[in-house]
Amino acid sequence: MTSDNTLDHYILDHTDAEPAYLAKVNRDTHLRLINPRMLSGHLQGRVLSMFCHMVRPHRVLELGTYAGYSALCMAEALGDDGLIHTIECDDELEDFILENLAGSEHGHKVKLHIGDALSTIQKLDETFDLVFIDADKREYMAYYEAVLPKVRQGGFILADNTLWDGKVLEPVEPNDKQTIEIMRFNDFIASNTRIEKVLLPLRDGLTIIRKL
Ligand SMILES: C[S@@+](CC[C@H](N)C(=O)[O-])C[C@H]1O[C@@H](n2cnc3c(N)ncnc32)[C@H](O)[C@@H]1O
Repeated sequence: MTSDNTLDHYILDHTDAEPAYLAKVNRDTHLRLINPRMLSGHLQGRVLSMFCHMVRPHRVLELGTYAGYSALCMAEALGDDGLIHTIECDDELEDFILENLAGSEHGHKVKLHIGDALSTIQKLDETFDLVFIDADKREYMAYYEAVLPKVRQGGFILADNTLWDGKVLEPVEPNDKQTIEIMRFNDFIASNTRIEKVLLPLRDGLTIIRKL
């Protein structure tokens, strides 16, 4: 049996390299922001890019921009008429995000909205092919309910961190709101027959949902 670390290296050695510009954004995030673990990173970034190449979305919505890393990964696969709306509530991140978008050849396909995800979603008059939910874990149910009517039939919702560092499996009842709400979201999605879903054990858990 190999250690997790060895397996992680093997996986990355057999996956496309992190594009140079995204590696820079990743490094700068580690140098300049607190909680750099929030950034999707090399493997999940390549998965997001690959999904977008497969789905070929024209309109994407992201909840939770952080450094702009995941938005730029998804933007790689969009044509010049494609657009990603990304929402971030922390206005102290605005300059850093805009700097990262401006330095990328794909940055012009990303529109940043500074504000609360739930209220900003209501102002967007778009139908989305793909939504990436990655903001406040306590609001996942509310995000799902707010975005579902705006997703086209056959469109996709990706929800990140649905394994929540393994806390969804702890035998004792959780008492932190984030774990409680992630578990409630996972159970709701699992029992919902109006959607197709698969929970991938990628990084911290990535649930893929298809609207029927
Ligand atoms: C996990 S990070 C996003 C990481 C990014 N999507 C990536 O993969 O590189 C979550 C982000 O959501 C933002 N956030 C949290 N609550 C929010 C809210 N209510 N509305 C908008 N953004 C929110 C946080 O400030 C943080 O930057």
